[in-house]
Amino acid sequence: MSPTPLRHYLQFNDLTADEYAHVLQRAAVIKKKFKAYEKYHPLADRTLAMIFEKASTRTRVSFEAGMYQLGGSVVHLTTGDSQLGRAEPIEDSAKVISRMVDLVMIRTYGQDKIERFAEHSRVPVINGLTNEFHPCQILADIFTYIEHRGSIQGKTVAWVGDGNNMANTWLQAAELLDFKVHVSTPSGYEVNEAVAGVRQQDCFKVFANPMEACRDADLVTTDVWTSMGYEAENEARRAAFADWCVDTEMMKVARPDALFMHCLPAHRGEEVEADVIDGPQSVVWDEAENRMHVQKALMEFLLLGRVA
Ligand code: CP
Ligand code: NVA
Repeated sequence: MSPTPLRHYLQFNDLTADEYAHVLQRAAVIKKKFKAYEKYHPLADRTLAMIFEKASTRTRVSFEAGMYQLGGSVVHLTTGDSQLGRAEPIEDSAKVISRMVDLVMIRTYGQDKIERFAEHSRVPVINGLTNEFHPCQILADIFTYIEHRGSIQGKTVAWVGDGNNMANTWLQAAELLDFKVHVSTPSGYEVNEAVAGVRQQDCFKVFANPMEACRDADLVTTDVWTSMGYEAENEARRAAFADWCVDTEMMKVARPDALFMHCLPAHRGEEVEADVIDGPQSVVWDEAENRMHVQKALMEFLLLGRVA
């Protein structure tokens, strides 16, 4: 069990701006150690349980490899191969799993489910994506922005596409870390600030035209038109989102030094043109790699507190 006070990471605003400054700085230190093949095992003998109710490539590999690199070990569970798929109550699962491991990462559907798990968990719980939020991804995206361009404070992020878990989390991050999000979604797929959990309206601005959202942006970002769990809406979404494809024209109206990000997996020719995602402004591979470095820093923080 962790000697540090129990903290969960269920939404982006579960950490303060000051704590983010610490975690981002630790991510840079931890990444440097990894690149230098320096052993760093602060989580020796600690175990992470990963629960996946939806598919994953990056989240699984980054948490699993990251935990091993910190000296710990990992247990991987899915709905299909555990009692979670046979209706064992989430509260009971939380009580049992959290008696045996030091940390839990969950990817699931409703945010309420991860909140119920956390309520009954003895150990920190990390959101590895829900329908509403994807905080680990935005943490990696902000780290990536800082690596390439310096502080994100005061900058403008253009969000083009669905008002989904990624968009909600960008809004929370903008409110907490003092930057702006210019959001353009098709009608019927808008961000809902009540769901996003933002209190101030001035952290984001809505644009009907995606080109206008991209104008003078420091970062242009998008995501799949159909998120996991919404597959039944696929056809309707393909029709509604046709004009929300990030193309070279949108990148041209952004700042000349603007970056392009996508959490991946991507669909070239749908939400983004190949020339953009595979072009010189794209940092998507750094973004994916950085998932591992920031999550190592996050796990260190949740289990050990502020490491000097
Ligand atoms: N970006 C992201 O979370 O990727 P996976 O779905 O592959 O984990
Ligand atoms: N919005 C996407 C992100 C995938 C990493 C989804 O929820 O499927």
